[in-house]
Amino acid sequence: MPVPLLDLRAQHATIRDDVVAAMMRVVDDQAFILGPPVGQLEEAVAALSGTRYAVGCANGTDALLLSMRALDIGRGDEVVTTPFTFFATAGAIHNVGAKPVFADIDPDNFNISPQAAAAAVTPATKALIPVDLFGQLAPIDALVIAIPDIPMIEDAAQSIGATREIDGRATRAGEIATIGTISFFPSKNLGAYGDAGMVVTQDEALATRLRRLRVHGGLKTYYHDEVGYNSRLDSLQAAVLLTKLPHLEKWSAARRRNAAYYDAAFADVADLRTPAIDPQNVSIYNQYTLRAARRDDLQAHLKKREIGHSIYYPLPLHLQPCFAYLGYREGDFPESERASKEVLSLPVYPELTEGQLGEVVEAVREFYGY
Ligand SMILES: Cc1ncc(COP(=O)(O)O)c(C=O)c1O
Repeated sequence: MPVPLLDLRAQHATIRDDVVAAMMRVVDDQAFILGPPVGQLEEAVAALSGTRYAVGCANGTDALLLSMRALDIGRGDEVVTTPFTFFATAGAIHNVGAKPVFADIDPDNFNISPQAAAAAVTPATKALIPVDLFGQLAPIDALVIAIPDIPMIEDAAQSIGATREIDGRATRAGEIATIGTISFFPSKNLGAYGDAGMVVTQDEALATRLRRLRVHGGLKTYYHDEVGYNSRLDSLQAAVLLTKLPHLEKWSAARRRNAAYYDAAFADVADLRTPAIDPQNVSIYNQYTLRAARRDDLQAHLKKREIGHSIYYPLPLHLQPCFAYLGYREGDFPESERASKEVLSLPVYPELTEGQLGEVVEAVREFYGY
């Protein structure tokens, strides 16, 4: 029985009537751009993130772009980030005119290493962008200590609702960074029915600037204080997300259950390393990502067995052709390079049945001769 990497139709089937009704309310209302559901979603996501403000925008890439513009980052500035992330993190740095400066990851959890990040800081560094990869928070507390006084934009595209225990309290994704950025790309734990994104912050002045930047740099219609963007959150997407939001915790818990099932099922497979979740973290498992011996052969085997899987990410960003101008070479970030050769993500979506989980486990174990 084939198992897909993600089955959005299975999730849609469980909420179809509610989503369609919410979408039809927007259609009947005809307030498509920044209509009432957008403000309602902003309020709900701010509450979920433990922040005072949330500002909807067109997607998670724009959330990063708008955040850097709100912090006046541009030409001549450097921004430190991880080379082991989705392209958008570094692409947004380039697109505001700044220079991406990479720092290697912690091999245990794939997130940026605080020591490496601190070593990458120069007098030109204007921000740090840690990424909460695969659904667990980066070591935000350690990063704040290692790199004080530099604004932090937390790329929380993959981590909405995840927590990290800091000073005895479950701190939420985006809560203690200067700005947190969220993606509602359909494959995220809270996915829209198209593109959508959001920025969260505790800072009122930054929130106001972000609201202005998303509407061409002017809060008063046809008057522009600065040149901004068209990066508004669509009312239809906000209505979908508001309908899905009450289910998020249950869905993320189901992903954790599936992850625990795999962890137990692969515990005796010497050639596999199951995901290490930092003891301070509660992951939302946007991905369940193994390190695998003979990864490419395992991938070919899973393909033959029609088991959905993916490699996030096959080429670290410092080795991407478009960043050749930065002058990095193979060997500069050995942990990111090793991760890109060893990782493989398996289906972990909430609607997986026990039968499907069993199929995945059997196919993987069979490959290693168990
Ligand atoms: C880590 C990371 N950053 C940024 C993004 C960009 O988000 P979007 O696709 O909504 O632009 C994504 C997801 O796609 C992501 O996974």
